[in-house]
Amino acid sequence: MTGASGLLGGEIALSVAGQGYTIFFTWNSSEERAAQTLEKIRWISPESQMIRCDVSKPADISNAFATFREHFDRLDLLLASASNFFSTPLPDVTEQEWDSLVDTNLKGTFFTMQEAVRIMLKQSFVSRIISMTDISAELVWRNFAPYTVSKAGIQHLTKVFAKTCAPHILVNSIAPGTITVHPDKEMESMEEMINKIPLKRLGDPLDIIRTIIFLLESDYITGQVITVDGGRLLQ
Ligand SMILES: NC(=O)c1ccc[n+]([C@@H]2O[C@H](COP(=O)([O-])OP(=O)(O)OC[C@H]3O[C@@H](n4cnc5c(N)ncnc54)[C@H](OP(=O)(O)O)[C@@H]3O)[C@@H](O)[C@H]2O)c1
Repeated sequence: MTGASGLLGGEIALSVAGQGYTIFFTWNSSEERAAQTLEKIRWISPESQMIRCDVSKPADISNAFATFREHFDRLDLLLASASNFFSTPLPDVTEQEWDSLVDTNLKGTFFTMQEAVRIMLKQSFVSRIISMTDISAELVWRNFAPYTVSKAGIQHLTKVFAKTCAPHILVNSIAPGTITVHPDKEMESMEEMINKIPLKRLGDPLDIIRTIIFLLESDYITGQVITVDGGRLLQ
């Protein structure tokens, strides 16, 4: 799993460990949060490990997978969750900001999925890839173009990988609405956010975890983007 040092990512990693998986996960800058997550995971799954990996650099991804291969002999599931997120008013977007968002989110997800597929296609059992996108891929947010484009790109990649890798690998994506709130990054108040959600609450990490478990138990779903947003996209 990439991005298990994230707020939602950490909860996902812990819950997937609870499903009986040994977890090999990446972090990039949040070493302390990653270490805390690993400590909790190891209570359930003592063989679990973490590695630092900047997913915007394919060489880092290759290195992470080389380390993975040294320690593990099968890959059942890739959760591609690493993601960068910040607002960038359209007229002011710099090349550096574009690269930071698109290289982490889109390029990073592509090369992570490619490395996973190289292992999974040689295995004699069906494995799974779940990417994490965002409902904003379907919305038009004026200050988040590099972010939303990168998430829309992941949704398309999900379909291309699903078609290319069938029937050996089931590839799906989850598009959450607002689950965790970054107070310094939100453009709207909590009240404004909730007013736009027909089910009248923000999402809970459990809403995403239940969807992941559903995909882990499903054998006949591939190439789908599952929206988990309390109906936010209906508005
Ligand atoms: N949480 C939500 O409400 C929400 C809503 C919509 C979509 N999503 C999607 O769900 C996924 C999980 O969200 P989250 O809440 O865990 O996000 P988060 O708290 O923002 O965490 C982002 C994760 O991505 C990692 N990351 C960032 N840049 C990286 C890089 N260059 N190389 C490697 N890793 C990098 C971070 O690692 P470090 O911190 O160690 O650098 C962290 O683990 C993301 O794909 C996100 O876009 C979440």
